[in-house]
Amino acid sequence: MPRVSPATGGRRSTVVILLCAALVFSISVLSIQSSFFARVSRSDQRDSEDIQILYDFQSNVQQCVAKRGLGLTADITDYCNLVLKFPEGTNSTWYNAQFKIFEPLEYKYNVCEAVLLWEQYRNMTTVLTREYLDVRPDGWFDYAAKRIAQLGSDKCYNRSLCEELLHPILPAKAPFHPRQFGMCAVVGNSGDLLKTEFGEEIDAHDAVFRDNEAPVNEKYAKHVGLKRNFRLVVRGGARNMGEILKGSSDEVLIIKSVTHRDFNRAIRELPNPIYLFQGIVLRRGAKGTGMKSIELALSMCDIIDMYGFTVDPGYTEWTRYFSEPKKGHNPLQGRAYYQLLECLGVIRIHSPMRSKRTEDWSNIPTKDAVKRAHAAAYRLKKRQLSQPEELTPFSNCKVWGTVSQNYGPVSGSGDMTETRRNSNYSKWELLPISSLREEAQEHYAQMGRVSQYKMDGNKLDDLVCVKHELTSNS
Ligand SMILES: *[C@@H]1O[C@H](CO)[C@@H](O)[C@H](O)[C@H]1NC(C)=O
Ligand SMILES: *[C@@H]1O[C@H](CO)[C@@H](O)[C@H](O)[C@H]1NC(C)=O
Ligand SMILES: *[C@@H]1O[C@H](CO)[C@@H](O)[C@H](O)[C@H]1NC(C)=O
Ligand SMILES: *[C@@H]1O[C@H](CO)[C@@H](O)[C@H](O)[C@H]1NC(C)=O
Repeated sequence: MPRVSPATGGRRSTVVILLCAALVFSISVLSIQSSFFARVSRSDQRDSEDIQILYDFQSNVQQCVAKRGLGLTADITDYCNLVLKFPEGTNSTWYNAQFKIFEPLEYKYNVCEAVLLWEQYRNMTTVLTREYLDVRPDGWFDYAAKRIAQLGSDKCYNRSLCEELLHPILPAKAPFHPRQFGMCAVVGNSGDLLKTEFGEEIDAHDAVFRDNEAPVNEKYAKHVGLKRNFRLVVRGGARNMGEILKGSSDEVLIIKSVTHRDFNRAIRELPNPIYLFQGIVLRRGAKGTGMKSIELALSMCDIIDMYGFTVDPGYTEWTRYFSEPKKGHNPLQGRAYYQLLECLGVIRIHSPMRSKRTEDWSNIPTKDAVKRAHAAAYRLKKRQLSQPEELTPFSNCKVWGTVSQNYGPVSGSGDMTETRRNSNYSKWELLPISSLREEAQEHYAQMGRVSQYKMDGNKLDDLVCVKHELTSNS
């Protein structure tokens, strides 16, 4: 305290004022500080709750891997990260020419990111539609051009040309819906399928997804079944499409890459519905067909059973059930990731080494456990970014658009053949929501008649969301 003498009355009152001001200042600093600390500790508190949820989930995943991984183990690094390890002495025979190494025996994963990504697929539309191109900024100019081969330019400078080329495979709205099927089988092409007789089991599913030229006929029926609903094909397969489809007029074809003039000519002769896959990463090397099949299936099925994706240990070369061995896959890396997906509740793996075991899925995390982990991972991430942490179905919608419910024409060439005109190819596009499974109808209602699409590959936060307006006659 400064000494104040009676002779300096003027100064004295100034000092008093200064003292008061200092007091007010320090009190307000104190209160700002304390509310700051309260806020920090409140969010610390919430963080630690979410971190605990994720640690519990990690240990659930760890147990699942131990029980189901055929020798794989999971080491938890922290609440988001874990490492999947093959047993010491595993024979890594796959030489990666690009990186000049044999396949490693350890794989690091971010479980938080994986849960956020794969749970999102359950609400996605994964088929390219007209509404998507209309709503996406520069959808027609930029993105459409990327889906057409031999266009002659990298942008759609002539929009009617691009429309003409895409129209045969471009439905106005999503032909398939989230939760449309209960149980789905995704069948790969592995030679392992010949060691088991999963045929009947596969055919008992609500929908069966296959890929590329996988034959479906009496010769292989007891191993791979006969049911065919969806087939994911790369562009190369388009040439011999007629052969692939032999015996099926309504298997739905989903093209993974691009369309072109020759392909459009072929489509005119085919009765089958044909679409382009939406959500591929166009710039980077395409992921294996297996992952894309899971994305496609997850966008319309509750439960996914995987068959024929060579996931048993000891696999050293990529064989196919219908032809000679073919190089091109990384057995260890692929197997580790499929194991992760199984223990995140995304898929269930069926393979020769497991076929004799009783079907017991009890150590896979429950839907509720996955949901809790998803919510915790979401909140933590948003808090770190200082963004709103409330999860709504539309949190990740970056671009919005509205279309009328009776929007746009059904896809098909203007000059289509009798075969196509008289076939059921348009059945999917005209499927009314009211004809869908209850779960799908509920989801559609909960989403407020909004379809969601990925803008680009696997980015989480930039969805294109299209709302369907009610019209008087619907
Ligand atoms: C590992 O695989 C290679 C190629 O199949 C084989 O020659 C070798 O004997 C195997 N080693 C062991 C320890 O199994
Ligand atoms: C644009 O494409 C349409 C359809 O193929 C064609 O008829 C038209 O001539 C093209 N326009 C220009 C300016 O090239
Ligand atoms: C189209 O579907 C209907 C009903 O499922 C069926 O009766 C008809 O034979 C199908 N047409 C063709 C050409 O496959
Ligand atoms: C998916 O849709 C459901 C409504 O069926 C909603 O409750 C959930 O939050 C959505 N999940 C994501 C990740 O968007």
